[in-house]
Amino acid sequence: MRPRQSRRQFLHNTARISLASLLPKGLIAAGAKTERVTVHAEGSIGLVRPELHGHFAEHLGSCVYGGLWVGKNSPIPNVDGYRKSAVDYLRELGVPVLRWPGGCFADDYHWRDAIGAKRPKRVNMHWGDYVEDNSFGIHEFVGLCKRIGAEPYIAGNVGSGTPSELRDWVEYCNFPSGSTLSDERAANGSPEPFNIRYWGVGNENWGCGGRMVPEHYADLYRQFSNYMRNWGGTKLFLIACGPNGNDLNWSRKFLTENIGGRTPDGFAMHFYEGSALTPAKFNEDAMNTQMATFQRVETAIVQQRAILDGFEPQGKRAMNLMLDEWGVWDRMIPEEEKNYGRLWQQITMRGAVAAGLGLNLFNRQADKLYMCNIAQIVNVLHSMLLTDGPEGRRCVRTTTYHAFMMFKPHRLKTSVRTEKEGTDALDLSVSASRSGGDLIVTLVNPRPSTDVHADCSFTGATPSSASAQVLHHADMNAYNSFDEPDKITVKPCAAALENGRLRLDVPAMSIVTVALKA
Ligand code: AHR
Repeated sequence: MRPRQSRRQFLHNTARISLASLLPKGLIAAGAKTERVTVHAEGSIGLVRPELHGHFAEHLGSCVYGGLWVGKNSPIPNVDGYRKSAVDYLRELGVPVLRWPGGCFADDYHWRDAIGAKRPKRVNMHWGDYVEDNSFGIHEFVGLCKRIGAEPYIAGNVGSGTPSELRDWVEYCNFPSGSTLSDERAANGSPEPFNIRYWGVGNENWGCGGRMVPEHYADLYRQFSNYMRNWGGTKLFLIACGPNGNDLNWSRKFLTENIGGRTPDGFAMHFYEGSALTPAKFNEDAMNTQMATFQRVETAIVQQRAILDGFEPQGKRAMNLMLDEWGVWDRMIPEEEKNYGRLWQQITMRGAVAAGLGLNLFNRQADKLYMCNIAQIVNVLHSMLLTDGPEGRRCVRTTTYHAFMMFKPHRLKTSVRTEKEGTDALDLSVSASRSGGDLIVTLVNPRPSTDVHADCSFTGATPSSASAQVLHHADMNAYNSFDEPDKITVKPCAAALENGRLRLDVPAMSIVTVALKA
């Protein structure tokens, strides 16, 4: 006689059988390292804001022109000038927020050049002195955001602009009607105001945005922000330029000098993970060095948040910490930049793992972060999509796109505390989030050649079912090419639940996301 099973056991066993049959065989070698992990489902950290999965598009290389925007008369399939494949893929990914037009470009951008019928041609001085026809301006940007479901975020020009230019841009975008600027917007095709909330007051003003000292930038921040108003009932969220990496001096000095000025709603730090090697020629040493940077990013977030807290009256937390630009920045290949555009960077399995480390740490620091925008969305640096040049028809989803997809289930859940044995930057990286009976756990193995067997226990919840997905390629330099666009994609993998413990394999160079019912 077959032993009687409870419904829960039956479902659990069925899930295991079907998962085992789906499993790509031989993901990990025998003798993998076992790492113990604990998920404290009761240990709430904070909301995983969708904005932690934000994006950035700059007028740089073929990100905007040729990437997102090909123009209405292009032979490349497009919808009203937007590259169709890019719009389709990005809508599917879900882009919570999109920052534009730069980057360094923002502090040399004059918004009036790109509205209406007559658009002057301008030199893009930061990214190769090429001439832009300004066919992509604020109307086209807002149109793109609508198509992909993103909230627009504008980076204003402080470096070479004036308070009145930025003030007028806010009026043009948000004043409902009846002023010359709002009527001009209507005449240009948008009677409805854009109601844009997020406004950056400059970008990297310690560097390409004017090479300022923090005291000078603080003066300008006070001056510019004074003229930016909540027209049309849209409460502006003003973002001040934060530090380069973890520059504590910039943050302290800016915050000290800004006393009496408008409190910034956001304080934006930038942190890139560089390398001296080209993207598809990484070795283990370079990989380890780059991946170890993420521990420094996490430390920087904790320290920068602590500085902000020191300036907040009664722990109010009116100022929100943002990681406005982040991602891997490898050595460029001149030939690729020539063919495909400046900062065009191949995205390998390593890129996906790096993205996974970033997104995991954002979950763990969810109480300290408001928004994080990876740089950049198409064809530049750590991108979601790559096209074969501005005129190329082909568009592939990078491994990083798939990594972002694997983190989507965390959005709007509460991040919860996790614990693991090792403290080395290259140990298994873990994060978890919860909403009611749904628990999501993501594990990232950044080691190039050490497979891990994860043994995961839980407090505050007893999981009854688990289903898992993996993004993996054993070769850190493998990527989705134009000829093999789906070489690396998300696949189901096995996750065994035994006596409330989760056991699963996390191969070298992989991201595993497990959805549990508890
Ligand atoms: O993302 C590329 C550049 O990196 C941006 O223009 C700038 O803000 C940063 O230095």
